[in-house]
Amino acid sequence: MARATTTFVCQSCGASYGRWQGKCESCGAWNTIAEESVAATGIGGAPSKGAARGGKTRGRAFVLAGLDGVNDDAPRTETQVGELDRVFGGGLVKGSVILIGGDPGIGKSTLLIQASARLARMGHRVVYISGEEAVGQVRLRAERLALTASPVELAAETNVEDIVATLTEGPPPRLVVIDSIQTMWTDTVESAPGTVSQVRSAAQILIRYAKKSGAAVILVGHVTKDGQIAGPRVVEHMVDAVMSFEGEGGHHFRILRAVKNRFGPTDEIGVFEMTGKGLREVPNPSELFLAGRDLGAPGTAVFAGMEGTRPVLVEIQALVAPSTLGTPRRAVVGWDPARLSMVLAVLDAHCGVRLGSHDVYLNVAGGLRIAEPAADLAVAAALVSSLTGAVLPADAVYFGEVSLSGAVRPVAQAAARLKEAKKLGFTKAVVPEIARGESSEPGLATQAVTNLSTLVADIAASGVARERPKAAAGE
Ligand code: TYD
Ligand code: MG
Repeated sequence: MARATTTFVCQSCGASYGRWQGKCESCGAWNTIAEESVAATGIGGAPSKGAARGGKTRGRAFVLAGLDGVNDDAPRTETQVGELDRVFGGGLVKGSVILIGGDPGIGKSTLLIQASARLARMGHRVVYISGEEAVGQVRLRAERLALTASPVELAAETNVEDIVATLTEGPPPRLVVIDSIQTMWTDTVESAPGTVSQVRSAAQILIRYAKKSGAAVILVGHVTKDGQIAGPRVVEHMVDAVMSFEGEGGHHFRILRAVKNRFGPTDEIGVFEMTGKGLREVPNPSELFLAGRDLGAPGTAVFAGMEGTRPVLVEIQALVAPSTLGTPRRAVVGWDPARLSMVLAVLDAHCGVRLGSHDVYLNVAGGLRIAEPAADLAVAAALVSSLTGAVLPADAVYFGEVSLSGAVRPVAQAAARLKEAKKLGFTKAVVPEIARGESSEPGLATQAVTNLSTLVADIAASGVARERPKAAAGE
């Protein structure tokens, strides 16, 4: 029974309407609603009751289970790409479906062909389906990466029914890579590949295949201009894990971040460096983010941060300069602009640091994005250092959350942060009061600050005053 029904679906958020309209009421986007017809087979659109079960409308009773039953542990296969396994939560889970999104050219295909090759070399069956490139192009990349000897099975296909039929022949693969989900299409939906209903139905078929066969399936997803994975958000809800592969333009390193993960943590990151021979794992990102530090310059502070379970040291750079504009500029790369406004307000209200007529630029070196409030103290230190021209000690790290009252609040995992700082040769840490007790890091002197104003006074007084190109600004 393939009675076709026509719906109007927003290509941006996936909301569906009975008739066409100019604006999507669900997401507010204009001109995104397109006509799509869905064959009433139960895939993609609303399931037509009974049709899929041959007219049977009465349900079948099933057995309910308790929470305390014995459970097979989620069987995982390590890809041997350590940074990838870390983000996955210890390896690929059998039957799981992972969506990896990222800007074009960021290295998604490179990462996945490298991981596929590793797995295949360990004797697992791995199938790589490219909907974007011809087999020859994939081979060329593999040649460049010196992976041609790995027994990965390749195909350039876009029809999901054909793909599933091919995969069901032979033993179930350990990993199937679909590059990308936007190029896949199914016979059951009449609209063009890449439209909401095609992407949703194709994903649904592939997910069903993964659950049935036990193969892990990785779907590559395109992202839109504002960084969302293109296509309906529903695909994000359907899969077990959503990862985003990011990198700043001009930088060589790439960060794999879990946005959602049913089988692991979401705050771990995997760090890679794009080289002429593909992606290289970076097991110690602090060294990378601190490389090429400008030691004698004011306006830089090293922040001892945490990314998941791993401490990461990164340089925070601030530039404060008198503004010629009525409304001074505030530009932030790698941190939350609202958080910067807050730190500026606290500096103004409680520490007498007036930046109302200064442009403020803040940059997290190396293209890392920090979400932790623990960076407040390092940001404040960098700002004051830039304003006063006092260079902060090169061997000091900073961490601590600043509250609106100007108090410096303790943050989690102080010991791990201090340990990493020690490991990288730092000898001093400026930390919140409580963290001092936690620290048992021999060889690392801690200076506890309870209030931001103490730190500001310290920097102004004891910082190594440097000649400034311009007359002393501010204060
Ligand atoms: P690709 O994996 O094709 O990106 P995506 O699938 O996310 O679109 O990566 C393409 C970019 O990576 C391209 O700009 C060239 C660069 N690259 C290298 O720098 N070194 C390499 O070894 C490879 C294979 C690609
Ligand atoms: Mg690609």
